[in-house]
Amino acid sequence: MCGIVGYTGKKQCRDILVNSLRKLEYRGYDSAGIAVMEDGHIKTVKAKGKINDGLIVKLSESGELNAVTGIGHTRWATHGEPSDINSHPIGNSRVSIVHNGIIENYRKLKNFLIGKGYKFESETDTEAAAKLIDYYYNGDPVDAISKAVTDIEGAYSLGIIFRDFPDMIYAVRKDSPLIVGIGDGEMYIASDMTALLEYTKKYYLLDTGEIASISAKGAVICDLHGNKINKEVQTATWDVSEAEKGGFEHFMLKEIHEQPAAVRKTISPRIKDGLPCFDECGLTDEMIRGYKHIYIIACGSAMHAGLIGKYIIESLARTPVIVDIASEFRYRNPLLTADDLVVIVSQSGETADTKAALELANEVGADTLALVNVVGSSIAREAKMVMYTYAGPEISVASTKAYMVQSAFMYLLAFRVALARGRITEEECRELVAKLETMPDLIAECLSDLDPYRRSASRLVGADSLLYIGRGLDYALSMEGSLKLKEISYIHSESYAAGELKHGTISLIDDGMPVIAVATQRDLLAKTISNMREVKTRGAYVIAVCPKGVSIDSESADDIIEIPSADDMFMPLVAVVPLQLVAYYASVLRGNDVDKPRNLAKSVTVE
Ligand code: M6R
Repeated sequence: MCGIVGYTGKKQCRDILVNSLRKLEYRGYDSAGIAVMEDGHIKTVKAKGKINDGLIVKLSESGELNAVTGIGHTRWATHGEPSDINSHPIGNSRVSIVHNGIIENYRKLKNFLIGKGYKFESETDTEAAAKLIDYYYNGDPVDAISKAVTDIEGAYSLGIIFRDFPDMIYAVRKDSPLIVGIGDGEMYIASDMTALLEYTKKYYLLDTGEIASISAKGAVICDLHGNKINKEVQTATWDVSEAEKGGFEHFMLKEIHEQPAAVRKTISPRIKDGLPCFDECGLTDEMIRGYKHIYIIACGSAMHAGLIGKYIIESLARTPVIVDIASEFRYRNPLLTADDLVVIVSQSGETADTKAALELANEVGADTLALVNVVGSSIAREAKMVMYTYAGPEISVASTKAYMVQSAFMYLLAFRVALARGRITEEECRELVAKLETMPDLIAECLSDLDPYRRSASRLVGADSLLYIGRGLDYALSMEGSLKLKEISYIHSESYAAGELKHGTISLIDDGMPVIAVATQRDLLAKTISNMREVKTRGAYVIAVCPKGVSIDSESADDIIEIPSADDMFMPLVAVVPLQLVAYYASVLRGNDVDKPRNLAKSVTVE
């Protein structure tokens, strides 16, 4: 959460900072600000609210800035409400910092600094870090930063400017992501590469405990003891156009439309001779045969993709799969052993709980396989094996294409595990892979006419609450549909196993209450239809999502969204599209900021 940027070079930095911050706004949008070096002074402009609502207004009021070095920040509030005073950059006339992460011992540091005569203005943990650096500053920025970092506990990254070094920016990383962008006679810092794609594709990835001293000519990177470190130059593979809306009204809509291509890109390189191939990460059949359990650990939509994985791995490979929410897994003393495989799923590769779960699994000695979208992210680097999803940058806070490719990957994994364990033959495996390869076309077919989704969404916009129901894979999918809807429309919804309704939840059904029934699993259809009738009889307005050719009568559903048909096992990859689009249109119709839903941030780097 929170996005950090910085620039030093020959150009006026104001617009570069603001432009880069816009690209990071998905990381948090409670406030935004910049601090620049102007005529030997640190000048700070910051405001509560999204960049356009606050910072831009303040910048226009504050007149021209003449500065070629500065730092910027977009905030997801953790300590202190969203307000001008709690906005970053934070500091004093000598030093100013932007911060992503949490300073866990900030109270102790604050008390110490108050004892030394410092006065505090904000409620943030960041102010303690800024003042601690100032306290240790004795003319040598790196020395001050090293000393402060030694005292600070937590996971964080900082961008820093010092009045005495007007052409420099400094950066330090402790767990939270930070990169140093390399330009031609200019340098940058950013929380992630999407901020800089317009300016450069070359960068250094800072590791924990590294401090960068950055001038227009380059960066000197050292550890906390001042030892210089030679860093490899990385090159981003994403293109600037991928991080722009490209004519779509919202990133979410664009990303939904990118799904067919994203699935192709993700699965194709992992198919060799018609079979799933995991050579790139070193996962062999022998290893697969040795695992007692497979754990899939993730948060939010990534965890829902893991649930799809559980159903198909268990049914095809007859191998026990435990799916866990990372924040639960890490604290429940799991029965994990060195004989297990732990698959860690994360779009950002930076989610704090997911990363902690990975660290736990590594400590236990289990094999860890990260399935990650952001190249070089913490989770990708800390796992024993890594496979990348090729969704391209996902900007919308609501995950769509990342969930889709994570789910598609689960099929490849299920097929390989089933093959390695002798549960399916090579021929059967090839047939399954061939079916998976047709899915991008079916996903694209779902996108050819958006009207049915808009129509169904219009039935939901006035509702206070609704239910998603389904059985088996449809239940797993219902969870994703429900999360998507509540996340961006702010309509309360719950997903429920259709067969479980009668054990309590059915009492919620009231006249006109919408129920979205996911009914794609033909072997369970009769039972799901009974459950739809039960809620419809009690007044629910039932919207059924089902494959073409399945007949659902008017006693069971009021509205039917028909989708292309595939084998039951593959239906989640198709059926999620209408769920995403119904949520999207519900959000649009309610006038919400679809890509930046309230209270949320894309990359959840705090627990
Ligand atoms: O970056 P990650 O995949 O680790 O993020 C996990 C969740 O925070 C994420 O999927 C979240 O649930 C989405 N906003 C859902 O749309």
